[in-house]
Amino acid sequence: MFITITLICFCSWSLAGGCGVEVKSVFITEGDSVTLESALAEIQSDDLIMWRFGAKKEILLATYSRKDNKAETVYGSDGRFRDRLQLDSQTGSLIITNSRISDSGLYTVTSINSDIPLNTFNITVYVCLPLPDIIRDCSSSEQYCSVVCSVVNVSAVSLSWYKGNSVLSSISVSDLSISLSLPLEVEYQDNNTYSCVINNPISNQTTRLDINILCQICPGCCGFTEAVIRLALSALVGVATVAVLVYDISSRRSDQKREQEIREIS
Ligand SMILES: *[C@@H]1O[C@H](CO)[C@@H](O)[C@H](O)[C@H]1NC(C)=O
Ligand SMILES: *[C@@H]1O[C@H](CO)[C@@H](O)[C@H](O)[C@H]1NC(C)=O
Ligand SMILES: *[C@@H]1O[C@H](CO)[C@@H](O)[C@H](O)[C@H]1NC(C)=O
Ligand SMILES: *[C@@H]1O[C@H](CO)[C@@H](O)[C@H](O)[C@H]1NC(C)=O
Repeated sequence: MFITITLICFCSWSLAGGCGVEVKSVFITEGDSVTLESALAEIQSDDLIMWRFGAKKEILLATYSRKDNKAETVYGSDGRFRDRLQLDSQTGSLIITNSRISDSGLYTVTSINSDIPLNTFNITVYVCLPLPDIIRDCSSSEQYCSVVCSVVNVSAVSLSWYKGNSVLSSISVSDLSISLSLPLEVEYQDNNTYSCVINNPISNQTTRLDINILCQICPGCCGFTEAVIRLALSALVGVATVAVLVYDISSRRSDQKREQEIREIS
């Protein structure tokens, strides 16, 4: 997932600024590498290619110049892209490696030979999705097996319960959510396949519910036998505590007594 090469999907096209430049939307996952095409098949001699990042306050990412048969690539000084940019000297395409969430935004490539940008990209970098966690909820009725699917630290995701291929329930968040959870009740003898799926617009992660394992025991639950065992255990612990206390006190007493005797002798 982290070193996947060039996972691009041009999912939507829109017009920006009214000057006829298409903004190409690119959706990638954190850690992916992406190649942004300059739209040139080959850079002409005496051309100057510039890549910029940002909508209002632009950052110069890289320039490529070819003059008198001398080619030169200069990378911008902005630290956040340090060692993560490569410019293709044939086409002028820009390769961003090991992408970060903060790489999201507009990328524009211009040529000294063209009044309008050659290409404009709107990159959205999504976080790597965590695997959903399914735990037993022992606080509710014993008639059904209650479970809860949850994920932490997520934003712009949906969490859903699937029975086979159909969605049973779903919850979505757009902003950062510390914890997102979705309950489900199943029969103990249910033979269907249940899975909890987290997804964002470009990827998903699935955890299968294993009824046989998860719905068997409820630690801390209050079946009759278990209650009796617990009672017996706590009684045992109680007796042991009292025994230790008594021993401690009596040994201290005998220590004191011995000290007293020693004092009397001397
Ligand atoms: C870029 O993409 C983001 C997320 O899809 C969107 O919110 C934003 O409006 C886009 N910006 C432009 C200039 O298209
Ligand atoms: C959730 O995010 C916060 C802040 O980014 C971080 O301190 C915390 O360790 C994260 N928790 C988990 C379980 O990843
Ligand atoms: C599940 O399968 C078992 C045996 O294959 C069957 O006895 C039981 O009735 C089934 N349960 C349901 C809810 O269909
Ligand atoms: C999860 O993603 C895969 C492709 O990556 C897709 O085939 C599948 O339908 C997705 N599942 C859900 C539940 O969105």
